[in-house]
Amino acid sequence: MSDKDKMGIDRREFLLNGAALAGATALGMLPSGLALAQSARVRVGLMLPYTGTYAQLGVAITNGLKLAIQENGNKLGGREVEYFTVDDESDPAKAPENANKLVQRDKVDVLVGTVHSGVAMGMVKVARESGTLLIIPNAGADAATGPLCAPNIFRTSFTNWQPSYPMGKVLADRGMKNVVTMAWKYGAGEEAINGFKEGFTKAGGKIVKELWLPFPNVEFQPLLTEIASLKPDAVFVFFAGGGAAKLIKDWQAAGLKGKIPLFGSGFLTDGVLDAVGDAAEGMETTLHYADSLDIPKDKSFRLAYAKTFKLQPDVYAVQGYDAGQLLVLGAKAVNGDFGKKNEIIAAMEKAVIDSPRGKWTMSKAHNPVQDIYLRKVVGKENRYVSVAHKALADPARGCKMG
Ligand code: BEZ
Repeated sequence: MSDKDKMGIDRREFLLNGAALAGATALGMLPSGLALAQSARVRVGLMLPYTGTYAQLGVAITNGLKLAIQENGNKLGGREVEYFTVDDESDPAKAPENANKLVQRDKVDVLVGTVHSGVAMGMVKVARESGTLLIIPNAGADAATGPLCAPNIFRTSFTNWQPSYPMGKVLADRGMKNVVTMAWKYGAGEEAINGFKEGFTKAGGKIVKELWLPFPNVEFQPLLTEIASLKPDAVFVFFAGGGAAKLIKDWQAAGLKGKIPLFGSGFLTDGVLDAVGDAAEGMETTLHYADSLDIPKDKSFRLAYAKTFKLQPDVYAVQGYDAGQLLVLGAKAVNGDFGKKNEIIAAMEKAVIDSPRGKWTMSKAHNPVQDIYLRKVVGKENRYVSVAHKALADPARGCKMG
């Protein structure tokens, strides 16, 4: 299969189409509707979960994105902004239809979404077929910036591999040898566990058992009973949102807290601390954000977010904010002319995002190259402990771009 067949559209074709469009604009050959569109509002399509276990994540991403655009005078490249919103319900089966509602019906200039990796795969398909600019503000599906990478697809969050891989070495360095893993059985869970496993086994550790639950099932009890009888050195998990909060509480109720250490990628404890009382106290996780970073941009972001939304931000809010910052920067490069897609892409590829998480750059596959922090829950904070891996880039296996 050629690159083009695999990607639907290759970089050369993408650039040629853009050049033809730019040439036609210069010659005044385009229908007046397109010229009109330049003065109309920029159409931003938000496809995120607003119901279900990931609802809070979708809201935080929306807030973060809108805050970044608000800080730019509520404009993109000098043009007013209109939002089109779809609740994707974290349902992969509905993803292509939902994405097409925004692309075909609402004719959005840019698609922003989503949280769930399976849903993101549907959005990637639509973006590759339609050429619509897609910014992924959470979903870590490795393939989006791996074998399915494309010029018009960017991510401002992470790959599922990225925050889990460094925890392998952290645990091995502590002399932990036998670890049980537990996760939701879907793309994100599988890839997060693979990332951890790669780091842990490379450092000499052994996975004694992999435990799985279908998404978004939260019947943890039988698995916790099995863990208690296996008595591993530690357990590493991937859960997020409402499911993560439930696991943390069930872990304490089952009497495992203080007996078997529970680790995870930071989605386990981000955005859930208000809901779990003291059950998460002392838990350590790895992630590309922490609550007590000594970074001026983080301080100003947290103040602005709290003032605007009367809520404390979390990693999802940061990722949404950075999606907004990336969009602001891309639109500025073309004075709001979203027809100049290749120039937007070129600007986004060169971006150095001044993020609350610390400055990050875009990899050739269009995924953040970023520090991964070790954090520890202290009270209501995921407190910074150390840098677990400096400037970590996803290996982007299978991406033929760049
Ligand atoms: C995912 O499905 O990619 C995902 C969902 C929540 C947190 C992190 C990753």
